[in-house]
Amino acid sequence: MQSWAVVTGASGGIGREIARELAARGHALILTARSGEALAQLADELRREHDTPSLCCVLDLGLPGGAEALMQRLAAAGITPDILVNNAGIGVYGPFAEADPERLQAVIDLNVSVLTRLTSLMLPGMLRLGHGRILNVSSTAAFQPGPGMAVYFATKAYVQSLSEALDAELRRRGITVTALCPGATATGFQTRAAGERAALFHGHMDDARMVARCGVKAMLRGRRVVVAGARNRWLVLGGRLAPRRLVTAVTAWLLRET
Ligand SMILES: NC(=O)c1ccc[n+]([C@@H]2O[C@H](COP(=O)([O-])OP(=O)(O)OC[C@H]3O[C@@H](n4cnc5c(N)ncnc54)[C@H](OP(=O)(O)O)[C@@H]3O)[C@@H](O)[C@H]2O)c1
Repeated sequence: MQSWAVVTGASGGIGREIARELAARGHALILTARSGEALAQLADELRREHDTPSLCCVLDLGLPGGAEALMQRLAAAGITPDILVNNAGIGVYGPFAEADPERLQAVIDLNVSVLTRLTSLMLPGMLRLGHGRILNVSSTAAFQPGPGMAVYFATKAYVQSLSEALDAELRRRGITVTALCPGATATGFQTRAAGERAALFHGHMDDARMVARCGVKAMLRGRRVVVAGARNRWLVLGGRLAPRRLVTAVTAWLLRET
């Protein structure tokens, strides 16, 4: 039976690389994002290079009913996905007190509410199939507070906690949930979130392809948490061992405006 994988935020960055990794392993794809042209180009590429069938769903998942609209497309196509990659995510940079409340809400809506809703809407199908894999794109930001990107960091702490709890709940029913934690990665994210003002985004950047490969491998092996890249694994470990106030101060320094 053909395995179908949903990848949210597949039009660029880490999501596009995850789609490529899955196609190379023989999974058919449901590609979703707002940029229809980028999705169509990717679908074309996957068909040519891997003979992979894909369905493009051009949707703003952040709008009310976005997740339900995606489910309707799947139902109309008669597809029950056995893989869900919750990758679409946005950030907003700058002091909380000066932030536009609508932008903050949009970050919470996409990173937290849409991820949670899609997971709960797709689980019944996976439970019927008797197996499933969920990959939630969290972040190394999940492990400490982020002054300067406070809401974004808090959303990733939520994603991390939810993923680990769901994996513990669902594993015995044949479904695994993996939290992928990338560090700073070269994608469109920095420009969209911060206009590249944060010092952090002028330092070392990981390659989106390395991050995607690491996440897909971990998901297919059923691992609960994977931090992408040796450097990030050391940073996360250091952050766990150091006092929380110190880690918060260092993060604020890394996120300072240049
Ligand atoms: N880059 C990093 O440094 C980094 C580090 C750690 C974690 N992450 C996480 O990695 C994930 C992917 O980010 P990225 O770095 O690949 O960023 P990106 O290049 O900006 O890609 C974000 C993706 O999400 C989609 N998206 C944004 N808003 C959407 C909406 N309202 N509805 C549907 N799709 C939407 C975008 O497509 P459209 O604009 O076409 O809709 C795009 O495909 C995010 O969850 C991010 O938090 C990134």
